[in-house]
Amino acid sequence: MGLLIKNGEIVTAAERFIGDIYCEDGKIAGIGLSVNKQSTKDEVVDASGALVFPGGVDPHVHMELPFMGTESSDDFETGSAAAVAGGTTTIIDLAIPGRGQSLLEGLKVWMDKAKKAVSDYALHMAVTWFGEKSGLEIETCVREEGVNSFKSFMAYKGAIGVDDDELFKIMVATRIAGGLTMIHAEHGDVVANLQKRLICEGKTEPYYHPISRPSFVEGEATSRAIMIARVTGQRLYVVHMTCREALEAVTEAKLRGQAVYGETCPQYLLLDDEVYKKPNFEGAAYVMSPPIRPKGHQDALWGGIQSGIVDTVGTDHCPFNQKGQKEMGRDDFTKIPNGAAGVEHRLALLYSYGVRAGKFDLNRFVDLVSTRPAKVFGLYPRKGSFVPGADADIVVYDPSGESKISASTHHQRCDRNIYEGFVVKGRVATVILGGRVAFSNGSLKVDRGAGRFIKRPVK
Ligand code: URP
Ligand code: ZN
Ligand code: ZN
Repeated sequence: MGLLIKNGEIVTAAERFIGDIYCEDGKIAGIGLSVNKQSTKDEVVDASGALVFPGGVDPHVHMELPFMGTESSDDFETGSAAAVAGGTTTIIDLAIPGRGQSLLEGLKVWMDKAKKAVSDYALHMAVTWFGEKSGLEIETCVREEGVNSFKSFMAYKGAIGVDDDELFKIMVATRIAGGLTMIHAEHGDVVANLQKRLICEGKTEPYYHPISRPSFVEGEATSRAIMIARVTGQRLYVVHMTCREALEAVTEAKLRGQAVYGETCPQYLLLDDEVYKKPNFEGAAYVMSPPIRPKGHQDALWGGIQSGIVDTVGTDHCPFNQKGQKEMGRDDFTKIPNGAAGVEHRLALLYSYGVRAGKFDLNRFVDLVSTRPAKVFGLYPRKGSFVPGADADIVVYDPSGESKISASTHHQRCDRNIYEGFVVKGRVATVILGGRVAFSNGSLKVDRGAGRFIKRPVK
């Protein structure tokens, strides 16, 4: 039995027309101005008045991540289900081995956890240290495991952070293996010293979190990572850019012709650092790294999207409950687990505050949330496109009406939503996952473990 989506406004990164899509055996089998049923048994989804675009690809999530003495509160099942409810049909999580642990062992741990996913998924590999076998293991990840992106942290000193010497070696090894280096750019030593100083001064509230990690500390690290990438000849993807300084560094690199890609996240586009002034420890919900920036940076990031400097918008979904998790840092902001939920609302937020606010058009929207991440991370054209043979991952988005985001109605396993009260235009009406309806009219029809690991090809 096939599935026919009729009369929708089909939007890809390049095209926009009213037409039909036919899916068979989990793949796109036909697309055009008019496609007929192939069998009387075909299921039909009437998409009249709705937008129809390729399923979202979120290039940056952390499900059940052991971090800062606890674990992110969505596991692969609940987190990927929330993703599907929001129109994201593929997530890319980050396997993070501890310092001293083998990459391949760390990867195996993540592959086991990820088996519960209801959506398709791929993995990045974190390189948290560099030892004798690291180069070979990076090579094995690329050649045999289908994992070709490697993230290192310049922050989180003393935990998963690396120093410049290690970063240099990681970039060389990753380049030789044909992989992509990803970077969390903040000056780890400066942050650690600022944190120490603030705590000694009795400045323990969440309000001081952004003060311990100023935007120029991110800007400097971004420039330094780009410089190391330049020297080593490596391609670099800068994750979760929050500020003008990081954007300027990426802009300079791109203008020079360096292969540098930039990612930002909805929280850095839509929130400002006033959130850290919330009373009753509520500012803790917004403690993430890098932090939410003062007013002004958001306009710069929107400009980065409009000008093409920003390549992708991911979420850095890494939820922690206020109760029992964020509370661990009630007397010391440096102990608040860093991260927040977001995987469910990326599409609705970017559609509402990007497309409907007149900042960019629908094609650019699809490119940002689906096609470009798929291309950067080697999932395209299987993901992020409607070419015949691509996976039939499809979002039917009803642009009419509006609703408010709330933790009381979201699917994410988290007691806070950092977009609480935000109004979004339209709604994800139906989500097709591998040719099957996985979400419709507000209800999920997904199966634990049905998600597939998507190996990325060796280039
Ligand atoms: O605060 C954040 N961003 N938590 C998740 C880990 C990371 O740095 O991406
Ligand atoms: Zn990070
Ligand atoms: Zn992250």
